[in-house]
Amino acid sequence: MAKAPKSARAMWSKVFSYDEWMESIGIPIHKGFYIEDVRTLELEWWEERQCKSAFIQLMGQEGVSSARVTEIPPGKTLPPIKFALDEIIYVADGRGLTTVWQAEGRPKKTFEWQSHSLFLIPHNYSHQLSNMQGDKPVRLLHYSYLPLAMSAIQESAFFFNNPYQSPDVVAEQDGEFYSEAKLVHPSSGGDELLGLRAFWYGNFFPDMRAWDKLDANVKRGAGGKSVFIQFPNSELSAHMSVFASQTYKKAHRHGPGRVIIIPSGEGYSIMWEEGKEKIVVPWHECSLFVPPNRWFHQHFNAGAKSARYLALHPPMQFHGHAEKVEDRAKDQIEYPDEDPWIREKFVAELEKRGVKSLMPDEAYSNREYEWSKGMGKQ
Ligand SMILES: [Fe+2]
Repeated sequence: MAKAPKSARAMWSKVFSYDEWMESIGIPIHKGFYIEDVRTLELEWWEERQCKSAFIQLMGQEGVSSARVTEIPPGKTLPPIKFALDEIIYVADGRGLTTVWQAEGRPKKTFEWQSHSLFLIPHNYSHQLSNMQGDKPVRLLHYSYLPLAMSAIQESAFFFNNPYQSPDVVAEQDGEFYSEAKLVHPSSGGDELLGLRAFWYGNFFPDMRAWDKLDANVKRGAGGKSVFIQFPNSELSAHMSVFASQTYKKAHRHGPGRVIIIPSGEGYSIMWEEGKEKIVVPWHECSLFVPPNRWFHQHFNAGAKSARYLALHPPMQFHGHAEKVEDRAKDQIEYPDEDPWIREKFVAELEKRGVKSLMPDEAYSNREYEWSKGMGKQ
């Protein structure tokens, strides 16, 4: 009998091409609902990349977004790699340098980063990462849409060190490509931006803990503020939210693939599929979690200071927001409608820390409650 062709096997198997590739590397693959600390996550040596590394594949990421942690030993520079997709790198810990170049003989661009920097490596660029400190390792989180891309093209050689050259966008920008990201006010950006909110725009964000030009996000409660992050010429995007100590946001749900990392703060999130068991995800600086597809999730700041979380977005096909207003209402739970256990648990968690909830009573009775500006300890 003829052996089944690979395409026939793929049709019946539930293994994604990305998963097959990931498993072939032989480094740890961390699963589950959350990573307690990216800085201490167990890694193993990856000979080809000359560093310790591990994949993160939490429930809710499968088949959509890829997350990986690498460690650069003290004072070392990793071998160059050329990757066919745009990649976001978040610096969990350490100080270092990135050098990028389009092709041999083309100008190279080098920039420096530190803990909690965020930057983009454009597709089809060679890049090299260095640890500038001689006494401690660097930890990086890498995020891309590789699982989706590998469902379209299965050969890994297409994605790594492929000689194809994209236009040299870095050289074209005359040294500006990695200058510090800027706040864009749609009113100053021309007609195509009319109607949008202000967003943070660029390829290099020096410190995600320091950014303070945030807009009030009144819909989600807790006096929360947020900023949208857009990378020029890339479909990758992100947003960061900041919310006050001893408060919590409203539960909401959307599509899969959204990797959330905590730049600062202490608290927890609760995630659940409608009508099912609730999962508690404790977090602090450099914790990471992914709300699974269409699961409700809700963020709680139990710490003494404001907390911020950074969400790396999947492609827009997966945002999962309902089109109609009446459907959208089903994707958010207002405080008066929430399970009373949510509030009770929050009060109990704060009690353990010797503090009280700053959630106003009125928020639980008045669906139209408007959080006053500047409310809560920021
Ligand atoms: Fe969310």
